[in-house]
Amino acid sequence: MSDQTFDIEMGLLVDAIYLRWHFDFRGYAQASLRRRLKTAMGRFSCTSLSQLQDKVLHQSDFFPALLDYLTVQVSEMFRDPDYFLALRREVVPLLRTYPSLKIWVAGCSTGEEVYSLAILLREEGLLERTQIYATDINPVSLDKARQGIFPMEAVRNYTANYQRAGGKQAFSDYYTAAYDAARFDPSLCASAIFADHSLATDSVFAETHLVSCRNVLIYFNRALQDRALGLFHESLCHRGFLGLGAKESIDFSAYAGRFDTLARPERLFRKAT
Ligand SMILES: C[S@@+](CC[C@H](N)C(=O)[O-])C[C@H]1O[C@@H](n2cnc3c(N)ncnc32)[C@H](O)[C@@H]1O
Repeated sequence: MSDQTFDIEMGLLVDAIYLRWHFDFRGYAQASLRRRLKTAMGRFSCTSLSQLQDKVLHQSDFFPALLDYLTVQVSEMFRDPDYFLALRREVVPLLRTYPSLKIWVAGCSTGEEVYSLAILLREEGLLERTQIYATDINPVSLDKARQGIFPMEAVRNYTANYQRAGGKQAFSDYYTAAYDAARFDPSLCASAIFADHSLATDSVFAETHLVSCRNVLIYFNRALQDRALGLFHESLCHRGFLGLGAKESIDFSAYAGRFDTLARPERLFRKAT
């Protein structure tokens, strides 16, 4: 199959997904979507994207399984520890000045970023006054996030990340180990709201003090990145904070002039006046 044919079918498939399932992948970066769809074709034994499209349209249990291939769910606790260290040092002192806080973790996947933030906020004495909204488009990931159970093997790496992120206690204080899994203290996310929300189709739902959206924009094209940044800008309170992933930037976006840079290497920004 030629690249041109593949791309024609890819356009038709994302249109079909949008019309049938209301998930909008039309603004996703083409190269990575192409790669993921090729993997899905192999997994579901399809020789063309049109065959995938047929299943998307005619088999009601197929699209939920395909969704895992369309989105990248990879996450880590205290991923890029310097980000969390900078949050602790540069942002927390300013968050402390508010009597109550709202934080939006957009594209939270299976919850590792949310639990990391909750631990950091607890150590800084801010968790009790914080409402966390954790959103994603993948319902299976959101369910896992609500459970807060992560593989023990991964937790060993997270321990090193936590220490490099300025962690103040023993990381093991936050979880109970059972067999090969670690169940994180449910009180960390007791008041967090895990909800379905798409940066591609939904609108702003709350005024927030910090938006952490890491390793999500990287999968979007420029127009969709601008849409998401527009939502964050609208959601943030006066001089609110925005954290992005290590490979993400606002430099060339429509919102470049509407955020000040707080810590460039750690991708922390502040809504401009
Ligand atoms: C690579 S994970 C990032 C997880 C976490 N933020 C981190 O940095 O470790 C990307 C997440 O973005 C979610 N996502 C993809 N498209 C989205 C959209 N339109 N709106 C909200 N979340 C989306 C995916 O489902 C996935 O869980």
